[in-house]
Amino acid sequence: MKKRVAVVFGSRSVEHEVSIITAVQAMNTLDSERFEVIPVYVAKSGVWYTGDALKTMDSFRNLANVSKIAHHVIIQPFDGRSTLAVQERRSRFLRAQPALIPLDIDIALLCTHGTNGEDGTLQGMFELLGIPYTGAGVTGSALGMDKILQKQMYVSRGIPVVPYVWFTRKAWTDAPDKCIDDIERQLVYPVFVKPANLGSSVGITRAADRASLRTALDVASHFDRKLLVEQAIVEHREVNCAVMGNETPVASACEEVFSTHTFLDYDAKYKVGYKATPGTDGTHRKAEARKVPADLGDDLTQRIQQLACQAFTALDCRGVARVDFLIGASGDVYVNEINTIPGALAFYLWEAIGIQYRDLLTRLLDLACEAFEDRRSNIVSYDISDLLTGGLQGKSGTKHI
Ligand SMILES: Nc1ncnc2c1ncn2[C@@H]1O[C@H](COP(=O)(O)OP(=O)(O)O)[C@@H](O)[C@H]1O
Ligand SMILES: [Mg+2]
Repeated sequence: MKKRVAVVFGSRSVEHEVSIITAVQAMNTLDSERFEVIPVYVAKSGVWYTGDALKTMDSFRNLANVSKIAHHVIIQPFDGRSTLAVQERRSRFLRAQPALIPLDIDIALLCTHGTNGEDGTLQGMFELLGIPYTGAGVTGSALGMDKILQKQMYVSRGIPVVPYVWFTRKAWTDAPDKCIDDIERQLVYPVFVKPANLGSSVGITRAADRASLRTALDVASHFDRKLLVEQAIVEHREVNCAVMGNETPVASACEEVFSTHTFLDYDAKYKVGYKATPGTDGTHRKAEARKVPADLGDDLTQRIQQLACQAFTALDCRGVARVDFLIGASGDVYVNEINTIPGALAFYLWEAIGIQYRDLLTRLLDLACEAFEDRRSNIVSYDISDLLTGGLQGKSGTKHI
C-alpha cells in the first residue's frame, strides 16, 4: 500500500512563492513506488485547496486562477477524529450541500516557509489532527522563527552568536533615546536591525550611525513586537550547512553564498536569482551566487558541521534544517539563524555528499513517522484511580493520541 503524502505549501507568508517552488519540485521527485502525492495548497487568503492541477508550476502563474482549478480543503471531524476533507464543487443545479470526502492522509510533507507554516502554527494543527508531519515540532519551529529566543538557546549551550541587544516595540516607542543609548553602549556601528520574526530579509536594515539606526528601528517596528539589533560582521563570509535526523542528526556539505549587495536582502535573494532555482524535473540549476562545497578547509568545515548539529539539537529540531553562519575576517564563526524548512529542503547540500533528493524525501518522511510513533508512546492521561493506587509505576495509564 502506498502512503498518501499531503504536500503542504503556500501559506500566508512573504515566502509564499518560494514555497510553491519547493513543493512542486518535491512532488515531482517523491518516490512514486512508495508514495501517492496529494497537493495541499494554502492560498494567500488562507483558503486551503487540493487537486491534481496543483502539481505543476503552470497552475501558479496566476494565483487568482487556483480557486477555479482546485477543490476546497476543510478540516472536518470524521468518526470522532478531526481530519482533512475535500469539498466537492457545488453543482449549479442541486441545492444540496456539497459532499465532504476525507483526504485520508497518512503523512504531511511540509514545504511552507516563514510565518504560518514554519513557525509552529501549522505544526500545531497537524499535532491536533494526529497526522505525522515532516520537520521540527511545535517548539523547535517556534524557536527557529524567533531570532531572539533562538540566540538565547544557543548562548545557553555555548554556541557562538554575534553580540546583540533586544527590546520590545513598546520600549522603543515609549523611550527611543534610552533604547539607542543602550545599543550604543553595547555595540559599535555598523549594526543590523531585525524584527524578531519574519524572514526573507523583510524589515531588516543595516545602520551605520545614530540617524539611520533610528530609521531602521522605526521600519523594523512595523513588522514585529520584538526588535533585535546585532553587531554587523564586516567583510564576512556566509556559509550554510544542513542537518538531518531526529535524536542523532548528521550534517551535509557546506555551501558559501556570495552577493554583490551590502547584504542579502529580499531582492538579492529572490529577484536577482540568488535562490537555488531547481528544475521541475528534480535537477538543480546551480545559481552563480553559491558554491558547494564551500572552500573552507577541513578544520573549518568540521567546526561548522559540528556547530550546525549542536544548533539543531539546541532547538529540539527534527527532520531537515539548514543552519546559516557568518564568518568574520579573522575566521571567527557565528551561528546566524536556522531555517527549519529550508528552501528546496536544502537537497543540493545532500546531493553534494551523495544523497539523492528522492532518498532525502523518503528519509524525511520516515523520520516524521518515527517521531510520530515516539510521541504516541507517551502516556498523556491518567485515571485519577490510577494515581491514587500508584498506577504511575504500573504504567496502567490511558494512552491518547
Ligand atoms: N550581524 C550581521 N553581520 C553581517 N551581515 C548580516 C548580519 N545579520 C544579517 N546579515 C546579512 O543580512 C542577511 C539577512 O539576515 P538574516 O538574519 O539571515 O535574515 P533572514 O531571516 O531574512 O534570512 C544575511 O544573509 C546577511 O547577508
Ligand atoms: Mg537568513
